[in-house]
Amino acid sequence: MTYVVTENCIRCKYTDCVEVCPVDCFYVGDSMLVIKPDECIDCGVCEPECPADAIKADTEPGTAGWKAFNAKYADLWPNISEKTEPAGDAAAWDGRDGKLLEAFGNADPAVA
Ligand code: SF4
Ligand code: F3S
Repeated sequence: MTYVVTENCIRCKYTDCVEVCPVDCFYVGDSMLVIKPDECIDCGVCEPECPADAIKADTEPGTAGWKAFNAKYADLWPNISEKTEPAGDAAAWDGRDGKLLEAFGNADPAVA
């Protein structure tokens, strides 16, 4: 089991999550963060810290594609362990539909 970052992180990127992770397994791209599944110890402390409710356990329905997405980009992006400024207009982007398609060119996280 692992936790994964999902679509609503895109263009919000609050980064509260990285402050609490005991194993520093978050990785950062231009528009969002991901968790490296192989490093996550399933402690769950990051999930309630995300103001955008973007972090899910991979036992939740619909997260299989997101697990693949998190694994793929965690291998490509640099590690992040300290909080940074949220994305500009984070509040305006919070909860919007279609962010994955807009940012990654595909609406399916398994192939984005
Ligand atoms: Fe880090 Fe725990 Fe969140 Fe996994 S569940 S990403 S180990 S804080
Ligand atoms: Fe993203 Fe939430 Fe962390 S918006 S950066 S998963 S606190």
